[in-house]
Amino acid sequence: MTEQKLKELLAKWEGRRGNLIMIFHEIQNTYGYVPRRISLRLSEMLDVPLAQIYEVLTFYHYFKLEKPGKHTIAICMGTACYLKGAAVVLKEFKDILRIDEDKTTEDGKFYLTTVRCVGCCGLAPVVTVDGKVYSKVERTQVAGILSDFLAKEEEKETNE
Ligand code: FES
Repeated sequence: MTEQKLKELLAKWEGRRGNLIMIFHEIQNTYGYVPRRISLRLSEMLDVPLAQIYEVLTFYHYFKLEKPGKHTIAICMGTACYLKGAAVVLKEFKDILRIDEDKTTEDGKFYLTTVRCVGCCGLAPVVTVDGKVYSKVERTQVAGILSDFLAKEEEKETNE
């Protein structure tokens, strides 16, 4: 987003209720997340402390602060999944991908996050990759899920 576009965006929402939220919505629609450099620039332009900007951004779970990965892995941490070992599964994904929750791998391939109940508690613990549901996932299956997924992706690329 150019400086000019950012100025236009600020002018559009100036003095309107909830303007900061609407500005963030437009930024996220453009980038898929709210880049830190844009937050810094907004902080200067609006003369609002950066901490205050992040207070708003982190209050609404909707806003993403990390560049999304090509594929989203979501570990369900709802009660049923948690009780069936979701925390162990999450730790395995973190260890293998070497990232924390709500982060993207360095190669940009995977974004790891958690969700609260995806509505199929009978299949707990549940993991989704780009919406595809993996049920009754055990720690030992995590590497397999990732490699199956990468293999499918490679196959798709060679057929294109
Ligand atoms: S708690 Fe995980 S699907 Fe419901």
